Amino acid sequence: MIEVDGVTKTFAARRVLDGVSVRFERGQVCSLVGPSGGGKSTLLRCINGLERFDAGRIDVGGLVLGPSRSARPAPAERATLRAIRLKVGMVFQHYGLFAHMSAIDNVMEAPIHVRRVPPPEARERAAQLLDRVGLSHRRDAFPRELSGGEQQRVAIARALAMDPEALLLDEPTSALDPERKAEVTRVLGDLARTGVTMILVTHEAAVVREIADRAICLREGRVVGDGAPSEVL
Ligand SMILES: Nc1ncnc2c1ncn2[C@@H]1O[C@H](COP(=O)(O)OP(=O)(O)O)[C@@H](O)[C@H]1O
Ligand SMILES: [Mg+2]
Repeated sequence: MIEVDGVTKTFAARRVLDGVSVRFERGQVCSLVGPSGGGKSTLLRCINGLERFDAGRIDVGGLVLGPSRSARPAPAERATLRAIRLKVGMVFQHYGLFAHMSAIDNVMEAPIHVRRVPPPEARERAAQLLDRVGLSHRRDAFPRELSGGEQQRVAIARALAMDPEALLLDEPTSALDPERKAEVTRVLGDLARTGVTMILVTHEAAVVREIADRAICLREGRVVGDGAPSEVL
């Protein structure tokens, strides 16, 4: 479903991704591990078009990105970037919820404004998704009234509300205390079992063992391990 082929990315003469080639299969949960600075976040950002790259090719379910030739993408390229961002949902370490909106409004916002889903329908779907992440009782709470684990679960529901074909998660549990980590890991495990395609960056071996089908290790911008989580860890 996602094919990365020979991708190279340089920041100020430092090669952060050095010819990365990897295929992510539909329905698979793949964890991305490795030392800090190895290029994990950069790879996720290249896959969903938040970051452009210098050489290689990325194919997301038939939408193909090549190296960026200029700072301003051409119209056709902009359309591809937009389409890719609709296909892949992103969840970050620091949740990134809208502070002035309740949990349910956070989840409904993109379907209404980006997908033009009628508000009553978007609200019903958002309620179902909040239920799925165990937060139906918190739907009217604002982010400041929620624990970190609850905010992250709202962020996961918000990503799912766009019906992404794949979910990219960048250290979704690393800002949380052990109890909240367990809550979020449980939600991710449930999603994994329902066949959501995920690429999960994490430093936590327990999370990898619990939910990943496969692990890939990136070090200094290169793939140095790819296989069963227990082997790669
Ligand atoms: N926008 C940027 N400008 C300059 N250097 C960056 C930028 N983003 C990341 N880097 C550098 O790229 C390297 C890889 O970073 P990153 O992909 O965040 O690694 P990881 O997520 O594996 O810790 C690091 O050395 C980091 O400092
Ligand atoms: Mg990172």
